[in-house]
Amino acid sequence: MSVLQGKKILLGVSGGIAAYKSALIVRLLVKSGAEVKVVLTAAAKEFVTPLTLATLSKNPVYSTFTEEDNDSGVWNNHVELALWADLMLIAPATANTLSKASEGACDNLLLAVYLSAKCLVYFAPAMDLDMYKHPSTKNSLDKLESFGNLIIPATHGELASGLTGQGRMAEPEDIIKFIENHLESTLPLRNKKVLITAGPTYEAIDPVRFIGNHSTGKMGFEIAKKAAELGAEVFLITGPTQLSISHSKIKVIPVVTADQMYAAAHQYFPDADIAILSAAVSDYKPQTIACQKIKKKSDHITIELIPTPDILASLGKIKTKQFLVGFALETCDELENAKGKLQRKNLDMIVLNSLNDKGAGFGTPTNKITLIDKALNVLPFELKSKAEVAHDIFQFILQKTN
Ligand code: C5P
Repeated sequence: MSVLQGKKILLGVSGGIAAYKSALIVRLLVKSGAEVKVVLTAAAKEFVTPLTLATLSKNPVYSTFTEEDNDSGVWNNHVELALWADLMLIAPATANTLSKASEGACDNLLLAVYLSAKCLVYFAPAMDLDMYKHPSTKNSLDKLESFGNLIIPATHGELASGLTGQGRMAEPEDIIKFIENHLESTLPLRNKKVLITAGPTYEAIDPVRFIGNHSTGKMGFEIAKKAAELGAEVFLITGPTQLSISHSKIKVIPVVTADQMYAAAHQYFPDADIAILSAAVSDYKPQTIACQKIKKKSDHITIELIPTPDILASLGKIKTKQFLVGFALETCDELENAKGKLQRKNLDMIVLNSLNDKGAGFGTPTNKITLIDKALNVLPFELKSKAEVAHDIFQFILQKTN
């Protein structure tokens, strides 16, 4: 999955022949899962039509401060557009646009949006070789870079003038790769391995029955997704669940029983940097598993149960570099129980959720958590979606590990 998935991207197109390639840039961005809006200069419209870009981006395109084709006084708010974007790409960026942007000139919508942008801005220059070589262009590029913008260098090759040299806009595929590589290099969990347990475990009684619980795995899956988005390599050990996940950075290890989850967790733990154990592991399992389906014979039946291994506590005993996180689902004396668990199991942090809170716990799309760190600092949160909860958990971990 691309790091551009779900990103809001503003593409600025200025007026050079390479503007015809902006259609392909939009197409590739949309294909990588980004939402795209396009701002064109007046000159760019000579090279590529707004209709093409609107159709490909599935959004209206913008080129002037007010709507051109009516007298309604509708204003294209450059500040709103700039704040909407997670990142901005200006491709092609002509010598004129580079020069104006570096000077802070603002005589068209594209430049006003650039000046209002708080997000990362990438420039993909495109021009003839002598213009590209000119000290004033070099000066513009240096200045733009010194402001924190990123320049995607023009490449060497045949130019529209018929000359050959440096000045061709980087190919659309290479522009996308450049942005992806750069974004990946800034992710806070790059080069980190994260182990996650999720879902319930099933402990067989006989070939058709088991002891299980209501866990759906949703919280653990959201944590896995968030870890991957932050750049980590993720090992998601999950008990039986209806959920599925497909992501190049997430390896799913399906298990059924607590013993299998224990074995898998111990296999991946030594290499992990962070381990988050959100699974609802069965605390007991039948001492023996009947080989045939147990028949209904008498009024009473007793199943002898023995404890399963406490995976979290066992990892707490052997942890070295790992930041170890447990979950506590409590029904009474929540804070005291959670703090006790954190200390007994040698954790770095515990995520407390109470079954007394409406919308928290099993099967709900939301959760209400309180985070407790090793020093017993307590940080309560509002009821949020499980995706937002996963975000909060990692913000806390990043604060504690950096
Ligand atoms: O002690 P308690 O079961 O309440 O602790 C909950 C935490 O311990 C959760 O993080 C859960 O994933 C983990 N756990 C475990 N192995 C068990 C039981 C719980 O890893 N057998």
